[in-house]
Amino acid sequence: MSKFEDRDFVCKHMMLRKIDLVNTIHEKNLKTVEDIQDETNAATICGSCYDDLSDILEEELKKGK
Ligand code: FES
Repeated sequence: MSKFEDRDFVCKHMMLRKIDLVNTIHEKNLKTVEDIQDETNAATICGSCYDDLSDILEEELKKGK
């Protein structure tokens, strides 16, 4: 389970909340953390949110939506 609520900021550098990332994952059918980076620039500044992106992505892919 991800430790984030929908409105929590996951990537503070890009001001991305969990809900923003989840919506983008589904809208653009993203499959890898690199896809998320290309699409949103999340985890491209300090990289400290990389593992969190990975957790959220894994959780969303498991839902299979
Ligand atoms: S918090 Fe995401 S790049 Fe720094």
